[in-house]
Amino acid sequence: MKKVITYGTFDMLHYGHINLLKRAKALGDYLIVGVTTENYDKGRGKLNVQKSCIDRINDVRATGLADEIIIEEYEGQKIDDIQKYGIDIFAIGSDWVGKFDYLKEYCDVVYLERTKGISSTQIRDLSQRIVEIGIIGSGRIANRFVLESKYVSGVDVVGVYNPNQASADAFCAKHELKIASSNFDSFAENVDAIYIASPHKTHADYIRQALNKGKHVLCEKPITLSKTETESLYELANSKNLVLLEAIKTAYSPGFTHLISLVKSGCIGTIKDVEASFTKLTTGNLRELNPQMAGGSVTELASYVLLPIVKLFGNDFCDVRFFSSYENGVDIFTKGLFQFKQSTASFKVGLGVKTEGCLIISGTKGYAYVPAPWWKTEYFELRYEDLNNTKKYFYKFDGDGLRYEIEEFLHLINSPKKESYKLSIKESTAISSVIDIYIKGQKTTLI
Ligand code: CTP
Repeated sequence: MKKVITYGTFDMLHYGHINLLKRAKALGDYLIVGVTTENYDKGRGKLNVQKSCIDRINDVRATGLADEIIIEEYEGQKIDDIQKYGIDIFAIGSDWVGKFDYLKEYCDVVYLERTKGISSTQIRDLSQRIVEIGIIGSGRIANRFVLESKYVSGVDVVGVYNPNQASADAFCAKHELKIASSNFDSFAENVDAIYIASPHKTHADYIRQALNKGKHVLCEKPITLSKTETESLYELANSKNLVLLEAIKTAYSPGFTHLISLVKSGCIGTIKDVEASFTKLTTGNLRELNPQMAGGSVTELASYVLLPIVKLFGNDFCDVRFFSSYENGVDIFTKGLFQFKQSTASFKVGLGVKTEGCLIISGTKGYAYVPAPWWKTEYFELRYEDLNNTKKYFYKFDGDGLRYEIEEFLHLINSPKKESYKLSIKESTAISSVIDIYIKGQKTTLI
């Protein structure tokens, strides 16, 4: 029996795929089709796949052409599969000519002529209206956002708002945008969604104004500096069926989401402690170090370190304490300690003190160790009493990583469900509430 194997994403299954599967099947007696997982596609930079792995498998099954369907989840798997399943022919579309010649050592490699004029990308682009995004603010992160947005199909950054028209004009010219405005109303009217990258203290007002204009909002962290403000804004978004998403990039990165699911699945036992540290030495006349602009280590960096804590333990802590070092009216270093009913957590953040920036999640059977920069989660280990059982995981974190949050934002805009499981409203509010407690305490400390 001649066995043939082929692989693909098979998103929005189309006649190009069916033609390919028919011809692959005709090459032998038995056809195995490998369908990619979401993580694998993200890892190879294929963002914005619309259908889930299960749906894509069902679509391939419904063609009746596959004798067996397997999942493709890691690089190098093709070599393993060919040997494991005793494959005679590896078949793939002609868009890949030459790329799989290395498999000739294991079986015949056949490149089948690709069907012209159709692709999943094309169908996705046609079925999805391009979401036009306007940016509030024109600072460092806004610049990175424009560059990163180019990696996500389905969005287009079209404009910028800055109360200072000259700053808006300069940003607009630099990135060749259509709109540069210092008038909020006209800016908002000309975009579908808004990314807020302005100073912390301005977030709440801009979110409210944007939502009231019927716009979806992606807001830089910290979403607001007050728990009640955050709650009321999520309520407002909810009542208008609009997306309000906090831009903590780690939350949407492939490695971090997998890490959380893994440790929650019990592979290190019951989770008892989380330690997270993130420091970034900062000098100069910057917003981060300016007390008038809500500068400081907590407002700047705590959203990252609180993320694994609230994702694993929620916000039901019995006690929280902070210890800070101050300089010129801002905390240049803060340590936070939490007591939950059955567990503990701690974090360190610093703009003027450097620490080892790792994340450690400890359980009753073992622990997860994520070295700096853990907030990108490109690599982590699960470690146990017996070191021989250590497991290592590698992930891709492309560019500045903003593309993952942009992708999630777009996905939510296009889906009926407006809340992300990667950073739920409850989790974002919990992070906000800890920052709020810190700020209130800090005022008394500094007086
Ligand atoms: N394929 C084909 N003809 C097309 C489109 C795809 O023969 N018009 C083949 C590909 O060469 C590959 C298989 O179908 O062997 C699965 O491809 P996949 O990447 O899932 O489909 P695309 O439509 O190319 O997807 P995308 O636009 O996301 O790259």
